[in-house]
Amino acid sequence: MIYAEHLRKEFKKVVKEPGLKGSFKALFKPKKEIVVAAEDISFHVPKGEILGFIGPNGAGKSTVIKMLTGILTPTSGECRINGKIPQNDRKNYVKEIGAVFGQRTQLWWDLPLQETYLVLKEIYEVDDASFKKRMDFLNEILELEKFIKSPVRTLSLGQRMRADIAASMLHSPKVLFLDEPTIGLDVVVKDNIRQAIMRINKEEKTTVILTTHDISDIELLCDRIVMIDKGKNVYDGSLHELRENYGQTRELVFETDKSSKLTKEQFRKGLNPNENDLVIENEKNNFKVRFNSNKIPVAEMLSYALSVTKVKDISVKDADIEEIIRNLYRQGEALNE
Ligand SMILES: Nc1ncnc2c1ncn2[C@@H]1O[C@H](COP(=O)(O)OP(=O)(O)OP(=O)(O)O)[C@@H](O)[C@H]1O
Ligand SMILES: [Mg+2]
Repeated sequence: MIYAEHLRKEFKKVVKEPGLKGSFKALFKPKKEIVVAAEDISFHVPKGEILGFIGPNGAGKSTVIKMLTGILTPTSGECRINGKIPQNDRKNYVKEIGAVFGQRTQLWWDLPLQETYLVLKEIYEVDDASFKKRMDFLNEILELEKFIKSPVRTLSLGQRMRADIAASMLHSPKVLFLDEPTIGLDVVVKDNIRQAIMRINKEEKTTVILTTHDISDIELLCDRIVMIDKGKNVYDGSLHELRENYGQTRELVFETDKSSKLTKEQFRKGLNPNENDLVIENEKNNFKVRFNSNKIPVAEMLSYALSVTKVKDISVKDADIEEIIRNLYRQGEALNE
């Protein structure tokens, strides 16, 4: 369904030296620098899969999505979606896909939402019966009714995002590209959006590529993840395997008595951890202890900490996706070798 083969995208950036002289120089004799936003990215997505496309900030995710949607042309490499090369057949291609860029709306700012959908209906040539059915479905999950008569510019972030999601699904696309569709949303709206993605995928076998920094999105929706960093693939596989291999970091936060402290030396004495398996950060009386639970079981860590210091409160955190990515990157690209 979706093939991305060795995608590479370079941008030319004008570098300006400081000061007025620099400005003139940049104007008349611009010095250009090449930024490699995506170096070499490859992956395949079969029909009906929801793929989590993740990686740290600046990894190149949005750049890749823009190439897949045909907004950008790759410097080299190729992508093929449903047998089509997006850049070659843009007019027909856009009818088969839907896209949401969470950071920026795709909707017309001054048009009431309802009219926006009518315009899209014409552009995508959706017949009346399908349109009605679709709007009912989207209204039901995304609760658009309350603001469907308002101009897009007056919508709150959560309303706007629901409106964008609905717009991307209106023409029953075969493929959906969702670049951070849950960014900045409250739990209820996040849930609405996840439901919409889940249902359209189940009921119509829509293939979805989803970019997010929220691991719950991935856990709830994705069969598989492709992780990139610095423009290159770092991981391709199930979330389960990722957790098994790299997600064993746990974080305990201890609030201690004023007089008590937790130090690495204390832990070294009692638990003898490897350098990379234990990190302690502290702010006043809060001590954040991050450790590899494969090496030091959580129970052992807890009982040891309680035995060496006066603890007032404890909280436990799972490794978040950024943490897993960091660990994965530190440990190299071993899995793909
Ligand atoms: N038009 C552009 N011109 C110059 N550099 C760009 C351009 N677009 C992106 N970049 C650079 O390419 C790199 C990748 O950017 P991209 O937006 O694809 O990252 P991302 O993975 O989507 O990050 P985030 O999680 O922050 O959204 C960044 O270093 C960015 O500054
Ligand atoms: Mg991005």
